[in-house]
Amino acid sequence: MKNRRNSRREFIKQSSIAGVGVVLAIGAAPSVFAGSNRVASVPAILGGSELAKINWPVWPMWNPETDDKRVLDSVRSGVWSRKDIVNEFEQKWAETCGVKNCLTVVNGTNALITSLIQLGIGAGDEVIIPPYTYIATPQAVLATGAIPVFVDTDLSTFQIDASKIESKITPRTRAIMPVHLGGLSADMNRIMELAKKHNLIVVEDACQAHLAEYNHRKLGTIGHAGAFSFQNSKNLPIGEGGAIVSNDENFMERCFSYHNLGFPGRPAPGSTGSDAVKNANKLRITEYQAAIGLVQMARLESQTKTRTENAEYLKSNLKKIPGIFPMEVYPEVTRGVYHLFALRYKKEEFKGLAREGFINALNAEGIPCYEGYTQLNKMPFLKDAFQTKNFIKIYSKKRLNYTKYLEQNQCPQNDILCNEEAVWFNQRLLLTGKTEMDFIFAAIEKIYTNAEKIKNATNK
Ligand SMILES: Cc1ncc(COP(=O)(O)O)c(C=O)c1O
Repeated sequence: MKNRRNSRREFIKQSSIAGVGVVLAIGAAPSVFAGSNRVASVPAILGGSELAKINWPVWPMWNPETDDKRVLDSVRSGVWSRKDIVNEFEQKWAETCGVKNCLTVVNGTNALITSLIQLGIGAGDEVIIPPYTYIATPQAVLATGAIPVFVDTDLSTFQIDASKIESKITPRTRAIMPVHLGGLSADMNRIMELAKKHNLIVVEDACQAHLAEYNHRKLGTIGHAGAFSFQNSKNLPIGEGGAIVSNDENFMERCFSYHNLGFPGRPAPGSTGSDAVKNANKLRITEYQAAIGLVQMARLESQTKTRTENAEYLKSNLKKIPGIFPMEVYPEVTRGVYHLFALRYKKEEFKGLAREGFINALNAEGIPCYEGYTQLNKMPFLKDAFQTKNFIKIYSKKRLNYTKYLEQNQCPQNDILCNEEAVWFNQRLLLTGKTEMDFIFAAIEKIYTNAEKIKNATNK
């Protein structure tokens, strides 16, 4: 605490000597900042020059030299349904995660649904989840017929507040589904202890956490099952795609059968289905999707290293700016992979300039950033689920009292994050270098210095 205050004082001292740090940082990077007005003091949003123009990397990345052949070969082969390339992808992802089994499915949402269903979660059950996540997390719970129970967010880490989980456990609770938000881990020691104590299943939503680690274990491999997404924006992108990982072979066999219309074992695609033994779904990915996944997987480690280094460098600098609080990590985190770089913005330190004004001003300086998630625990899809025929048949009127549900699932800390404080930077910004990180820092410093002017001129 003391250190933080000291570094803030230092920051203010440095700022008052005309942003020396910024000018030096920019001066040290001629290739990136060429042509810019290096000492711009008027914020771009008020008509001044941008500090610099940066061509941020586009996402997803494609390198024709290394990528074209593998994918075109798979397309030209005419074997498009699940076969050897999907098997290869699954084997490689299992090895990469340090786990016995991996099964690909059509997306992360269905990786979650399949895991929950094959672990016995369904009608009448409750699943504990965080509200600070993508809508797929609660939708997956609802798809099984269970009810999502929201536990508030730990503001410093943006993860589920594990200290608040126990008070939400009821006789109907069957599972906890932590989300490793932004590629940083939830408080897994505490979550696994609670799961053990209350005999609960843990399904890790690792959809944003490829290669992330907690106590040197890959995320997704600590609970009973882990789910990944390979959707377009993800650190390992295929466009659409997902995977389940687990060491439980029996469970993985059930998942395999479920994703393949209930056939036992591993029959060739096109089997007539007369021997299907399970109530199931069809969730297979194609060979060319797996080929795309393999070429992306080949660069995942080096990209992850770059992201993590840049995020940690940026974080250490941003902490010096009053009112800027980058996502913290739990002490057990041995690797954060920063699918998002998120911070809390406190307008009180920026002369009352609202988050919207801060984001607009940063965008004007050439830095893409945005507000992030809205309050999932209050969104209309929950009410809609409660009004479906299945839910009405399963649950009593009392359980489906939506007003009461809203009351029981209030998450005041999360409201602050969603409505006032969170600011997100996309992972692709981290695939650059220290110079670009200095630029983000300099732009935030510029807004800090000019906050009052921006607020007055933009009415934000
Ligand atoms: C935290 C989280 N859970 C689940 C999902 C669902 O994955 P998908 O979009 O592949 O269905 C996503 C991503 O989209 C996610 O970010």
